[in-house]
Amino acid sequence: MSHSYATILEQIADHIATADFGTARKADYIPALSCVPDEHFAMVICGTDGQEFAIGQADLPFSIQSISKMFALVLAQRAHGDALWQAVRREPSGSAFNSLIQLEQEHGIPRNPFINAGAIRVADLISSRYANPDRSVAEFLGQLCGKPAIRVDNDVYLSEDQHGDRNRAIAYLMKSFGKLDNPVEDVVRAYFKQCAVAMTARELARACRFLACKGVGMDGKPVITPEETSRINALMLTCGMYDGVGDFAFTVGIPAKSGVGGGIIGVIPGEFSVCVWSPRLDQRGNSAAGIRALEMLIRAIGRSVF
Ligand code: DON
Repeated sequence: MSHSYATILEQIADHIATADFGTARKADYIPALSCVPDEHFAMVICGTDGQEFAIGQADLPFSIQSISKMFALVLAQRAHGDALWQAVRREPSGSAFNSLIQLEQEHGIPRNPFINAGAIRVADLISSRYANPDRSVAEFLGQLCGKPAIRVDNDVYLSEDQHGDRNRAIAYLMKSFGKLDNPVEDVVRAYFKQCAVAMTARELARACRFLACKGVGMDGKPVITPEETSRINALMLTCGMYDGVGDFAFTVGIPAKSGVGGGIIGVIPGEFSVCVWSPRLDQRGNSAAGIRALEMLIRAIGRSVF
């Protein structure tokens, strides 16, 4: 890798440590997520050439939340192939990640696999094909990052389960349209558990490196085909940051997926994968410092996917 990534990461971390992120605050609709200290920050870059650069709390686990949706999509695609696209569409939603309005108007078919409705439908598809749906995303993540024992944080799981009325409403709405195959409670349990996976920024950057390597994993074996990889990257670019996706493409310009735990994964195909983590979120539910850090990185290296 040609740039001095270690220096760039230091400059980014220095900036983030003193920057003002205004009204950004942690997700509190899942109470267990609000316990994390505000000032935590980590950033890890995994080059396609095997080099790795890290700064901050890169080895401290955090709740991956919606970042899991990308990995769940890969599992569902493996099991169902193109039939998957009968169940979920591929258009940006333009509305909040947990909105119900569009789902009603569009007869229970989610706009894309990254909003909550789409990810709940994907969890439903996984439940129909995998032996242990409550663990399948965690096990897949373990294979991808080379650490078999990936943990589901039970406190986060219970917290979301207890405050999961909106996601249950989404699941029941889909069920009412005949668009959910398995019982609502089984599907939302699998979904909450995949969101409650705890991983470090280093593990996540490694786990998504296949997206920068035409689908080839850290162990040199194919995870998905190059064509499937391009499709997942296209979906992250158009839907990965929810109703902030246009701004993010404009200011950063790479495929990325965020989670309300404050993590964001991203890739420049052929160059690197990156994971950034800082828990305070903007109004769209994306990490405020995370977006700033990615913007600085892209500016420093002078290129995006455009
Ligand atoms: O279902 C939820 O609301 C959370 N478990 C995940 C939402 C999320 O991470 C959205 N991302 N920015």
